[in-house]
Amino acid sequence: MSEPGNGLAGPAPAPARGRRARETVPGRRAPEGQRIAFLESNATGSGYEAILAAKARGCHVTFVTRDLGYYQRPGLLPFPMDGVDRVITCETNDADAIAAALAPLAGELSALISVGEWYMQAAADAAALLGFKGQRPAAVRACRDKSLTRTLCAAAGVPGPRFAVVTTPEGARRAEVGFPRVVKPVDDSMSHGVRLCRDAGEAAGHAAALLSDTHNIRGQRKAPAVLVEEYLPGPEVSVEALVSRGQVRPVMVTEKLLAAPPGFIETGHVLPARLEEPARRACLRVVAQALAAIGYDFGAVHAECRLTPDGPKIVEINCRLPGGQITRLVKLATGLDMTAALIDMYLGRPPPPAPAARLGAAIRFLLGRAGTVESVHGTDGATMVAGVREVCVLARPGATLRDPASNADRIGYVIATGATGDAALRAACAAAAAVRVEVAGPARVPAGGPR
Ligand SMILES: Nc1ncnc2c1ncn2[C@@H]1O[C@H](COP(=O)(O)OP(=O)(O)O)[C@@H](O)[C@H]1O
Ligand SMILES: [Mg+2]
Repeated sequence: MSEPGNGLAGPAPAPARGRRARETVPGRRAPEGQRIAFLESNATGSGYEAILAAKARGCHVTFVTRDLGYYQRPGLLPFPMDGVDRVITCETNDADAIAAALAPLAGELSALISVGEWYMQAAADAAALLGFKGQRPAAVRACRDKSLTRTLCAAAGVPGPRFAVVTTPEGARRAEVGFPRVVKPVDDSMSHGVRLCRDAGEAAGHAAALLSDTHNIRGQRKAPAVLVEEYLPGPEVSVEALVSRGQVRPVMVTEKLLAAPPGFIETGHVLPARLEEPARRACLRVVAQALAAIGYDFGAVHAECRLTPDGPKIVEINCRLPGGQITRLVKLATGLDMTAALIDMYLGRPPPPAPAARLGAAIRFLLGRAGTVESVHGTDGATMVAGVREVCVLARPGATLRDPASNADRIGYVIATGATGDAALRAACAAAAAVRVEVAGPARVPAGGPR
């Protein structure tokens, strides 16, 4: 689940061979026998689910990566090697290199898909070069580059914070967005580097730190700019949706739980969000406006907004499936498999109708602290809590942890369901409280250290 992390290693059996592609009606292809390439993956669940969903649909799966070993390190969820028929290794941070590696297969492949923030752009660019159906590169860019999201949304009158894009600490100090303000990277993810700054000095200091952090977790160069935003008060939700031909099919409104500032580390999700219907509808409306403003017409959406006293305002739009096990929670609550539905969309099928929630579902993340894991207790008791569906502790004795600096520093999670989101959350919290990860100091890796 976390990108770096500690504890578990994924199995690596030899890839099996698949059957050749068979085409049915163009644009409405049956999944069986179709050949799909996945470009890298997130390590938080939905990317791995996508591989298995494609396999379960009878597809031949190619996994394109620059380093398969990245997914097989301790502390990550096990990589689903049994869902992969073929691995192609190439420089996946370069769309031209991906297109060159896949060009000999272009005739047999039906789609190139990515389910991970870091590779959405490269997948869209390479798919366009190869002539595959997929996301428009410009729309992906408008999500991945948050300064572009803000500019396009502001121009279209979509509710959002006052903001400034700056390239110096002085710019972060002087931006006219009021205090407290949020200072954050333009194109990072997992809340990494997002900080609430209460005064000009803090804002300048944090901007300096961000500007000196030149590469992301996957070794990609980050934009040399920082977003300074008005702080949006209020509860936060994400809208999960599928979009095809510009039509937005809402799937779920998810409530987000956060740790105390100055960081914005996620501690859990609850769905359906505990909102009155008018507020829920208002969130859907604002997200639909934002998607229209950025020209987003195909793919999954995980869009975050805050319910401010002036109504919902956009935090960011992710052009991908949600991470953090939200796809699993959606499936538990509604029965809809968003991941499989997205694959079907790439194969020319329309997105499914908006599902109704039959249950509430919740996840509570386990966070550690800097030090060395000595022991893990209480998982059996946690599993016995009524409503609990899964208890997963990724940190193992001997693992070195740092203080949580981003969502990548989770060390496990508990998933639960209940009659309502509230009941599911109560069960998840009770189970999470039963898990004890004993950590001994002193810290060997300080917060904000190497990722
Ligand atoms: N302008 C803002 N006002 C209030 N909270 C914000 C704002 N910008 C970001 N946040 C908080 O920080 C979190 C992470 O920021 P976000 O822009 O979504 O970055 P990431 O891509 O890392 O998820 C958000 O989910 C939200 O809780
Ligand atoms: Mg976010």
